[in-house]
Amino acid sequence: MDMLTYLKEKEHKAELMQTYYALPKEELENEVFRIKKQLGERLFIPGHHYQKDEVIQFADISGDSLQLAQLSAQNTAASFIVFCGVHFMAETADMLTTKQQKVILPDMRAGCSMADMATLDQTNTCWLTLKDLFGDTVMPLTYVNSTAAIKGFVGKHGGATVTSSNAKKVVSWALQQKQRLLFLPDQHLGRNTAYDLGVSLSEMAVWNQQKNQLEYQGDYQNIKVILWKGFCSVHENFTVDNVENIRAEEPDRFIIVHPECRFEVAQRADYVGSTKYIIDMITEAKPGTSWAIGTEMNLVKRLQKQHPDKNIISLNPYMCPCLTMNRIDLPHLLASLHAVSENRSYHQISVDPETTMWAKQALNKMLILS
Ligand code: 13P
Ligand code: SF4
Repeated sequence: MDMLTYLKEKEHKAELMQTYYALPKEELENEVFRIKKQLGERLFIPGHHYQKDEVIQFADISGDSLQLAQLSAQNTAASFIVFCGVHFMAETADMLTTKQQKVILPDMRAGCSMADMATLDQTNTCWLTLKDLFGDTVMPLTYVNSTAAIKGFVGKHGGATVTSSNAKKVVSWALQQKQRLLFLPDQHLGRNTAYDLGVSLSEMAVWNQQKNQLEYQGDYQNIKVILWKGFCSVHENFTVDNVENIRAEEPDRFIIVHPECRFEVAQRADYVGSTKYIIDMITEAKPGTSWAIGTEMNLVKRLQKQHPDKNIISLNPYMCPCLTMNRIDLPHLLASLHAVSENRSYHQISVDPETTMWAKQALNKMLILS
């Protein structure tokens, strides 16, 4: 697309969105209901737990990234999958569904800063260095919070994807296959998981993708896990101070955090687990118990509403929602549904066949192990 067409299209989209933003909420909601009814089973709306309430109320299923991947793979009835989550999740849905099914992301700006921290070029450079250092002893694993290209790389080299809810299973499988593993792109999930499985911190190195350098003090032959130096800009905001403040002021309050939190935070928490684990723990907790949760704010607020009999706060009192997840809102959802109902091409996420073929090897390995 030339620059002029691109700018015109951008301007047009911005103008179009302004008209949606000007509509009253009730009108937007009624229109979403109408289109959902009109399209019936031809339309499938998966929604990640971090989505806003105004969006999640319309989701046919809500789930964590593993559940959304599994359910997308199972759905063969829908022609249109309007994915309420972030870009890498929509890519995964596209790769796990049939060619005829179209996956649409209501706002193309809904990315994931962590997924953007590992590019294919950087990964190739890292891999060459690791080959020189360790020969054929490294198994690559990638958190699903990564681009399709990275999943493709991992699939091509015999590895698998992981999510926060199956990380232990997949990492222990990988450690049985090869002497060491490269874990992309979230150092914290990698470190927390490997440590829980008995790998000591002295057996973990960090790959610095900015400097193309392995950060490790000691004999390289002792390295079992190489952690990519990526992180989640939301979960990194939970600090040791947050934990210590709660411990000092309210020693009876349980602390539960997502494994994307830093190692020092995870070590000091009472419970560490995926989005699904956090939801299940809070749901099953006794009435009257108090909880500080270290995860995304839309989810924490929803849990507060759903469990008025429990005292729930965010582990960090100044926490914000995941801004890129929040790009998907009611006006963007409706704009994409209008496009779908008129069969107009709009924000389709389509991964090329070669990448899909390799990435599916990594995804399917994970789905089998889950
Ligand atoms: P889950 O795998 O727990 O759904 O997490 C996805 C995510 O983006 C967490 O930040
Ligand atoms: Fe990415 Fe973090 Fe947002 Fe999850 S919470 S989508 S990892 S930026």
